[in-house]
Amino acid sequence: MDITKIILDEKEMPTSWYNVLPDLPEPLPPLLHPATMEPTPLPPPLFPSALNEQEFSTERYIKIPEEVQRIYKLWRPTPLYRAYRLEKALNTPAKIFYKYEGGSPAGSHKPNTAVAQAYYNKREGVKRLTTETGAGQWGSALAMGCMFFGLECKVYMVKVSYHQKPYRRILMETWGAKVVPSPSEDTEVGRRILAEDPDCPGSLGIAISEAVEDAFARDDTKYSLGSVLNHVLLHQTIVGQEAMKQMEKMDAYPDIIVGCIGGGSNFAGVFLPFVKDKIEGRKPDLRIICVEPQACPSVTKGPYTWDYGDVAGLAPIAKMYTLGHTFVPPPVHAGGLRYHGMAPIISHLHNLGFIEARAEYQVPVFEAGVKFARTEGIIPAPEPSHAIKVVIDEALACRESGESKTILLALSGHGHFDLAAYDEYLSGRLPDYEYPEEKVKEALASLPKVPRA
Ligand SMILES: Cc1ncc(COP(=O)(O)O)c(C=O)c1O
Repeated sequence: MDITKIILDEKEMPTSWYNVLPDLPEPLPPLLHPATMEPTPLPPPLFPSALNEQEFSTERYIKIPEEVQRIYKLWRPTPLYRAYRLEKALNTPAKIFYKYEGGSPAGSHKPNTAVAQAYYNKREGVKRLTTETGAGQWGSALAMGCMFFGLECKVYMVKVSYHQKPYRRILMETWGAKVVPSPSEDTEVGRRILAEDPDCPGSLGIAISEAVEDAFARDDTKYSLGSVLNHVLLHQTIVGQEAMKQMEKMDAYPDIIVGCIGGGSNFAGVFLPFVKDKIEGRKPDLRIICVEPQACPSVTKGPYTWDYGDVAGLAPIAKMYTLGHTFVPPPVHAGGLRYHGMAPIISHLHNLGFIEARAEYQVPVFEAGVKFARTEGIIPAPEPSHAIKVVIDEALACRESGESKTILLALSGHGHFDLAAYDEYLSGRLPDYEYPEEKVKEALASLPKVPRA
């Protein structure tokens, strides 16, 4: 009988994260201080020192603390599946594998970093964490992480998602977090934005500004980011390391790796352990494809330049693909992909030619999500459905060419809390959004003027 899924034993779970920084072909540009525009660490009032060290570490492997490993084992190692039914439905000679992170208690890959971040903050005496959340996946993961370590958690949830996805708010509250819609009346930034536009749908950039302002204001509080930064991508590399072991057991190695990108953490988690082989010339033909929404196309349409991580310009400036930190994306259902910028590591590797990027429209993305649900059973979140769309396109290209390529999909989460979006799609009410060119132009006009650029 064909093997449908590979499950590793708990003893086979990786005990270190993989840090790509020492293996990059060229060093990563530094983070810059938002006021002085000089190279800066992560602001110490916002991040514990352990995470600051990890952000810039040159160690190739960083040990996962045992307490974190013990919590990971509640759902890790996660399964790697072969998508026989999808392959058959597409009549493709391609072999499609997917690494599924939807089995975590929060339903996505986000707990891999949430638990680690809560652990390091607790260890350094922090009492309370603030954060932003789009679709609610990150917020719920951090709410759970804080619960495990007895930390308070305050989540600024992008207003459009707060109203579209009440169940994620309830999930966060069940784990003990306090959740407010962003922009909120709780911060200076939020009050200023609401005064200008009371109906502002919010954005991740605004919610980050609120969470950062809140953390700066209190000594017992630090801030936690669910994507973009090097240490977040680092924590996700457990996913790719497991996938690599699992593929080895199936005697397989990917020709193509596909993942969706919001800030880039799930995609990076899967591809970084493999990109080492491409950088070192062992797998020169490995293709690595990231997928973003047409409505928020930072890598495919944005410039690679210096920009703030948040709307208010409180967070460090990073060199990245960006649509401008004041850009407010249309309210697509993949709330986790509505970020104006991209992880510096992914931006850097794309700029060096190691990664391809695609942008997809919302309606064909849901069509791909439904196709996956109707073949493999799992109802994917709208975010990884972007990647599924591209996997299907690549598998169909194999049908045309007759090639039997091996494709690895990063299936970052399930869509059980996104069923209202599926309902819109199934009843033909789901709109597609064009690339908002004028709004991007406007936002790009407010990029910081960095002397070193
Ligand atoms: C299921 C899922 N996948 C992907 C993402 C995108 O984030 P990242 O690019 O950091 O993986 C999110 C963000 O919330 C998400 O919930």
